[in-house]
Amino acid sequence: MDHFLYRDGVLHAEDVPVAEIAASVGTPFYLYSTATLVRHYRLFDEALSWGPHLVCYAMKAASNQAILKTLAAEGAGMDVVSGGEYARARAAGVPGDRIVFSGVGKTEDEVRLALEGGIRQVNVESEPEMRMLSEVAVSMGVEVPITVRVNPDVDAQTHAKIATGKSENKFGIPIAKARAVYAEAAALPGLRVIGIDVHIGSQLTQLAPYGQAYAKVAELTRQLRADGHEITRLDLGGGLGIPYTRSNEAPPLPTEYGQLVQETVGDLGCEIEIEPGRLIAGNAGILVSRVIYVKEGEGRNFLILDGAMNDLIRPAMYEAHHDIVPVIEPVPGVEQVAYDVVGPVCESGDTFAKGRLMPPLAAGDLVAFRSAGAYGAVMASEYNTRPLVPEVMVKDDQFSVIRERPTFDEIINRDTIPEWL
Ligand code: LLP
Repeated sequence: MDHFLYRDGVLHAEDVPVAEIAASVGTPFYLYSTATLVRHYRLFDEALSWGPHLVCYAMKAASNQAILKTLAAEGAGMDVVSGGEYARARAAGVPGDRIVFSGVGKTEDEVRLALEGGIRQVNVESEPEMRMLSEVAVSMGVEVPITVRVNPDVDAQTHAKIATGKSENKFGIPIAKARAVYAEAAALPGLRVIGIDVHIGSQLTQLAPYGQAYAKVAELTRQLRADGHEITRLDLGGGLGIPYTRSNEAPPLPTEYGQLVQETVGDLGCEIEIEPGRLIAGNAGILVSRVIYVKEGEGRNFLILDGAMNDLIRPAMYEAHHDIVPVIEPVPGVEQVAYDVVGPVCESGDTFAKGRLMPPLAAGDLVAFRSAGAYGAVMASEYNTRPLVPEVMVKDDQFSVIRERPTFDEIINRDTIPEWL
């Protein structure tokens, strides 16, 4: 459920007409609903309320300061994967003891930044990284709580580019090697082993792969405890999918996921952490764009928008589907037209949808890409020197620009010309 609904014939974000924001901000822009963000966070929080837990929002999904502050005020932790994300989380007021550091290639500088500012735990992804972390911790005179991310070799049954839990993926250490790696971790100075981490992929639409992975984690917990390790925390990753089409998709709900977690690892007495990103932010955001032209091609109609692949890369990168709806509510029963929905960028990959059935549209009309809140703005670029899309947030009847659209001068002035040129 989200808070983007037609009211009086116009798409609203909470209590604000989307067209009013477009008139004030210009298109294209990302638009987030505070109420949806909060609602989704709370669903996870409640789903795990049977035991001690922390929901660490995977901020890679959408990391604007206003979004982080909204979730942090609810009590969320953050899952960060770079020094930049760590800095962003701290800037939004998230205390270090609510920040988890994940990621397959953390550098020494990034780790140092996190240890200086305070960190809840580092999820270690390889032996060399573990040794580096130990050296940095010792040099700083601190002890860092760690989990080791294990790769359970489970098929998450999602798009190949976002599956992470198979042995051919670069993530984590093979679960078969885990006992040896934990033995080394326990012997290294500056590290304190506290738990296990696993994350098998993103946009999971079934619970079964989670069940398989978490059963393996439960078994490993018992083995590691028998080996003498204190395993008190399980980080179970993120990945729960969202419905990208309104009609025919019904991925598991956070409550069902929470029950599965309880069934598989609930008897171990561990504190549970999860790292959802997409389910919190995905349906809390839309991308609003304007039709520039409708062009009749050979047997096809092109709907040329002012939004492009640089603003929302998911269709080009993952063949992802986003529902595209007119901001003015279509007349019921109106005959639909098949459009190839495209942006102005100079490559054919800049296609959002082919043969998409939509109500008839004309130049100047506004459309909204639904489910664009996660992996939308954060993956945008300035390809074709198209300014990064501004971000806007609504709360009830108020809206505010939470990131401005840069001017051409601001973009150009980031370049510097060598003196010798
Ligand atoms: N934890 C870790 C260690 C992750 O790598 C990820 C996502 C998450 C949590 C959050 O997963 P989520 O709950 O959002 O599914 N750009 C792609 C998705 C990449 C996901 C990367 N890792 C897309 O647009 O579909």
